[in-house]
Amino acid sequence: MTTLHESLTVGAITLPNRVLMAPLTRARSAQPGDIPQAINATHYAQRASAGLIIAEASQISPQGKGYAFTPGIYSAEQVEGWRLVTDAVHEAGGRIFLQLWHVGRVSHVDLQPNGADPVAPSAIRSPAQTIISATSGRVDVSMPRALETDEIPGIVEQYRSAAQNAKDAGFDGVEIHGANGYLLDQFSRTGTNKRTDAYGGSLENRLRLPLEVADAVVGVWGADRVGYRISPTGDFNGMSDDNPAQTFSTLATALSDRGLAYLHVVEEFRGSTRDEAILDPIREAFKGVYIANGGYTAATAQERISSGKADAIAFGALFIANPDLPERLRLGADLNEPDPSTFYGGDEKGYNDYPFLEAASRA
Ligand code: PHB
Repeated sequence: MTTLHESLTVGAITLPNRVLMAPLTRARSAQPGDIPQAINATHYAQRASAGLIIAEASQISPQGKGYAFTPGIYSAEQVEGWRLVTDAVHEAGGRIFLQLWHVGRVSHVDLQPNGADPVAPSAIRSPAQTIISATSGRVDVSMPRALETDEIPGIVEQYRSAAQNAKDAGFDGVEIHGANGYLLDQFSRTGTNKRTDAYGGSLENRLRLPLEVADAVVGVWGADRVGYRISPTGDFNGMSDDNPAQTFSTLATALSDRGLAYLHVVEEFRGSTRDEAILDPIREAFKGVYIANGGYTAATAQERISSGKADAIAFGALFIANPDLPERLRLGADLNEPDPSTFYGGDEKGYNDYPFLEAASRA
């Protein structure tokens, strides 16, 4: 029986275990400039025992930003900041990918360059709320405008350039964020893509931008260092699709044909329910590594791997609170409780102060 604690080859790299750290928005980049800083390096280095760290969603351009204080991967200063993080993780013996993010319509004019409207496949407003400053609280996202067809190559170029920046920053690979209602997900699903050009309408057209992005990123990294994240069962950020099993198994097949290292599937998130009728065909369609995420415990994670439905499990909240999560799961040790009040924004409190197992309690 394969266990959570066995190694796993993911494309070009070998992981020492299958307990992965999910990408987690923590909104703690240095201002101005959305620049990763020393506290971020400490945070990720503390979690270097993860089989793989998938670092938080990072905007690929100023236009791709949807929340205050999230880091970017488009400026030289950001690349330098991320270098602190990758060096610290590698020094601690870990492996780290970066998640490439364009939020599309989930943004606010106050977060956009020159107060521009956020962009989307179609001019349909998300019911989502966001945070635009330290004091704003939650505010409704803005009405987006539909991207012109001739702007699409520029979007692909944002991803390509960000992928190159991630390479220059010393990451081991990248994950394309195609999940949770952000730009690529908006293009993929019927509820948000009402376009009549080559990027909307048919399923093939809806998947055109996601696959052009995948090809551009693979062009920088090689397929064996690229993953892709989807959330086929989720409605977070106001998402819907007429046939999610078909949409996402078709996408999974296309990514599999390109030889991507892994597919990362958000199976449940913020109240959405796991639906095996949607997940099973996706698992079957993708021939590379399947990473499952969403509400897993030690027991359900092991069960999922044993059943063959996943190769590795990405943990979010548990990794926030337990920097040594793989060891704790291996030993069956007690887990620290995550504190949601410190998830977003702030400093080292609730970020770098969760305790490791004491040497005594390990014995
Ligand atoms: C969030 O900031 O709430 C957030 C960011 C990225 C996700 C999901 C949630 O994929």
